Amino acid sequence: MKDDFKIAVVGATGVVGREVLAALHARDVPAEQVHAFGSERSKGLSVEYGEDSLDVERAVPEAFRGMGLVLLATPAEASRTLAPAAQAAGAWVVDVSSAFRGDGNVPLVLPGFNTELLGATMKGRMVCLPSAVTTASVHVVEPLRRAFGVVRAQVTAMMSVSSAGVRGVAELEKQTADLMSGREPDPSVFPHRVGFNLVPQVGGFMVGSPWTEEEGGWTLEAARLFATVGDALVLAGTAVQVPSFYGHGLTLNVQLKKAGPVEQVRAALKTSPALKVLDTPGERIYPMPMLVTSDPTVHVGRVRAFPQAPEWVTLFAAVDNATRGAALNLVEAGLKLAERAV
Ligand SMILES: NC(=O)c1ccc[n+]([C@@H]2O[C@H](COP(=O)([O-])OP(=O)(O)OC[C@H]3O[C@@H](n4cnc5c(N)ncnc54)[C@H](OP(=O)(O)O)[C@@H]3O)[C@@H](O)[C@H]2O)c1
Repeated sequence: MKDDFKIAVVGATGVVGREVLAALHARDVPAEQVHAFGSERSKGLSVEYGEDSLDVERAVPEAFRGMGLVLLATPAEASRTLAPAAQAAGAWVVDVSSAFRGDGNVPLVLPGFNTELLGATMKGRMVCLPSAVTTASVHVVEPLRRAFGVVRAQVTAMMSVSSAGVRGVAELEKQTADLMSGREPDPSVFPHRVGFNLVPQVGGFMVGSPWTEEEGGWTLEAARLFATVGDALVLAGTAVQVPSFYGHGLTLNVQLKKAGPVEQVRAALKTSPALKVLDTPGERIYPMPMLVTSDPTVHVGRVRAFPQAPEWVTLFAAVDNATRGAALNLVEAGLKLAERAV
């Protein structure tokens, strides 16, 4: 990357944006090459960049002039207008929102899975990324697909409130304090109280459908991702909002095409650099969201199968939704695209 190559981090004050800055800094990208952007709300704020701090600039179309790479860690509505503006300014663009995941003209890339798409010919200079749950699920399923073939994977995702950004985190903080003081909180970000509760709804319901947008997204994204490796397996499941702050837990039931002994399933998982296998239940070693903070791998364990249905394998996984599930995908994809810009 040339010294004058500039990277815009849009949404720099958010849950994901802050982790994007940390990941760029960890890769020794100098502060002078990084610009932090937010909306009108962040006027006058600055954000940490290692020892330095960056002023948050307002993300207006003309601000992207001179940027080589624009990383969008913004809500879908904002990405829909900011992405074309960044493209028009001549930048490469990576978007982590749901805005373009269903758009066949925008490659859907999961670094470490179909990374090669980043070097392929593309219509615009832009790619989008899957959600945190799809990221974790695909990384778990892929080594099993390679070793045994997979028909479908059923997931129940226990999603921390940071999946709803800084407002989600603030809402659980307030609800917890209210409940500890005997006050019934008024939900605003989530459809029901999430404090000391579980809510089987993440995002709105798709029009005329019993599936939420979050759940529908997993099925669509997994179909697009596995199509890039010539497969058509189905990922579907239930999204549950849980009263924890960071890190998601996932139960996966994976139907193999050809059953194999559990030891072979575990061995297949160990071949993936995207995974860390934690599976010594007798010593109480298994994945938990609290162990996965800032870990670039997805943790997986509790591998089991019934003798009566050996083709169905049950596992538990944990992922840091803000880093592995979003920010690291943005930075890894973005820096790969930056190689094309020089
Ligand atoms: N959180 C996760 O676990 C996760 C995982 C995967 C993908 N994602 C996706 O990542 C994106 C960001 O999520 P988040 O959790 O980081 O949300 P967040 O904490 O609410 O942060 C949103 C960021 O976007 C900025 N923003 C909002 N509207 C803007 C606009 N019109 N122009 C410029 N900046 C704008 C906000 O800046 P201001 O404060 O200045 O408005 C803030 O910095 C979302 O699309 C989300 O779906 C999130």
